Amino acid sequence: MSKDFESKKLSEKETLIKENEQREKTFNGMTAREWALSSRSVWNDVSSVRKSKHLLHGATFPEKLAERVIKMYSKEGDCVLDPFLGTGTTIISAIKNKRFGYGIELTDKYFELATKEISSVVNLLVQPSYALYHGDCENMIDEINDETIELTLTSPPYADLIHKVIEDRTKRHKHSAFVEENNATTKIYSNSELDLGNMPMDKYKEKVIRIMKKLFQKTKPGGYNIWVVKDFRDVKNKIPYIDLHSTIAECGSKAGFVYHDLIIWDQNEQRSLVLLGYPSVFYVNQNHSYLVVLRRPKK
Ligand SMILES: C[S@@+](CC[C@H](N)C(=O)[O-])C[C@H]1O[C@@H](n2cnc3c(N)ncnc32)[C@H](O)[C@@H]1O
Repeated sequence: MSKDFESKKLSEKETLIKENEQREKTFNGMTAREWALSSRSVWNDVSSVRKSKHLLHGATFPEKLAERVIKMYSKEGDCVLDPFLGTGTTIISAIKNKRFGYGIELTDKYFELATKEISSVVNLLVQPSYALYHGDCENMIDEINDETIELTLTSPPYADLIHKVIEDRTKRHKHSAFVEENNATTKIYSNSELDLGNMPMDKYKEKVIRIMKKLFQKTKPGGYNIWVVKDFRDVKNKIPYIDLHSTIAECGSKAGFVYHDLIIWDQNEQRSLVLLGYPSVFYVNQNHSYLVVLRRPKK
């Protein structure tokens, strides 16, 4: 064996030892290099091609995004919660990354879809490590023990926005063959009055605050609570720009969480531009979402 080869082997071993020491030290098991690389405030590399389950639901986030968040804000063995489970993206990613996943979903068809998707992943792995609850998350959260959740990662409905979008499109397309079902990305989740997607903004905020208060109880001191949302436009409103990410941060603060960070998920590459307000009023295309990072302070 040459001297060069031997010293290269030695330095690889030293790097590995150093990295393992770093993994032991950090709360999320990351090395300093992984930590630095994950700390960008704008993400343009987490979108992925939509599978059929995504089209069936219409409002999912990518597994790559869930995986990055889970690796940044929790470590192996921790408990991760998604109170608006949808197709189960958060829980699938939690399980694949050796975390315990809790998911809650109100709508029958999405609960069934998520259960199927999650169990197919678990079949491939040795240890099943998740619990799913069917119902209104405001009530079902009570099933989880206090101060056990390290990370909540979720994307809630945006109040009754979908109803407004569908109403608007139906009016605009009333003389064409357009029907609501044609647009896979715009779907009402359910007809339930417990569904946050069927609530006007004032009722929505009250419900989000009540959910946040329960999430606060369930979160470990020092744990994180991350909501993925988009701001939107409601031109019939007195103030047409609906700053949903600030609303979510405000609701979280009312429940005791601290507004810890804000990450921008850049979706320009995945969305085509629409001509808005032309030729009289200029509006930009909202081609990004926010990850509102809240934290329960340490005691
Ligand atoms: C934006 S989707 C979540 C999508 C998910 N992140 C994914 O990747 O599949 C929001 C989900 O919240 C559910 N939902 C609405 N109100 C709820 C409530 N009160 N409790 C639990 N789930 C609810 C809807 O049925 C919908 O599936």
